[in-house]
Amino acid sequence: MEIIIKPTVAEAQQETAKIMRRQIQRKPETVLGLATGSTPIGVYSLLVGMHEKGELDFSKVSTFNLDEYVGLDAKHPWSYRAFMEAHLFGKVNIEKSRIHFPDGMATDIPAHCANYEADIRRAGGIDLQLLGIGREGHIGFNEPSSSLASRTRIKTLTPQTVKDNARFFGGEELVPRHVITMGVGTIMETRHCLLLATGEGKAEAVARMAEGAITADLPASILQMHPVCTLVVDAAAAKELKRCEYYHWVYDNKPDWQRV
Ligand code: GLP
Repeated sequence: MEIIIKPTVAEAQQETAKIMRRQIQRKPETVLGLATGSTPIGVYSLLVGMHEKGELDFSKVSTFNLDEYVGLDAKHPWSYRAFMEAHLFGKVNIEKSRIHFPDGMATDIPAHCANYEADIRRAGGIDLQLLGIGREGHIGFNEPSSSLASRTRIKTLTPQTVKDNARFFGGEELVPRHVITMGVGTIMETRHCLLLATGEGKAEAVARMAEGAITADLPASILQMHPVCTLVVDAAAAKELKRCEYYHWVYDNKPDWQRV
């Protein structure tokens, strides 16, 4: 795992956006895996800025989002689909037909999840998956105890995640209890995982994920087994990492051709 520590949130967001820009510039028909939550908002706004400056063309890009709340339709203001529309899709030249999302209103959820997996395969697999991390170490909505081989399916949120996401809903009681999420196994099949974590609240999860034992108790820890995984953190989220000096050393000595 490559661990990039940036002093500020803004610099961590910039590094992440640059990695995504490089991917799309190298392969215009890139298949992106996208994440929601507050962490990637700044990255999306940088990507929109790059698009406006003419540096980024999304016309051939396809996207698959990680997750969606069960019971919310695409137009619901709190749905992740609406979130993506507001922060990225509505602001760049992405083709609507290339946007893929779990359907929170699916009547046959297992069949819908199987189709989602099939759509990912049909698109040729995900080239670059943007990820955040929950305070309890979830990726997507793969909460602790998720099978590390899981596929897209329904999950029940932990009380902690309900609490953490209540700010988007205006109260814990309004947060749906169920979600559809890509599985840990689905995420592990993407060619490059790019996880951004910022703020002190993520420091423990980040340290356990990168330096702790691989365990379903912290699903993000499986990323230690991913052949191409980049973790970008700000100084606050890096606070509990033991080998910070070494990670800085590696970054400072990176060959030019590996830099973004
Ligand atoms: C959310 C999403 C995740 C996200 C995580 C962290 O609930 N399902 O994809 O990475 O929790 O969210 P935030 O960035 O708001 O801390």
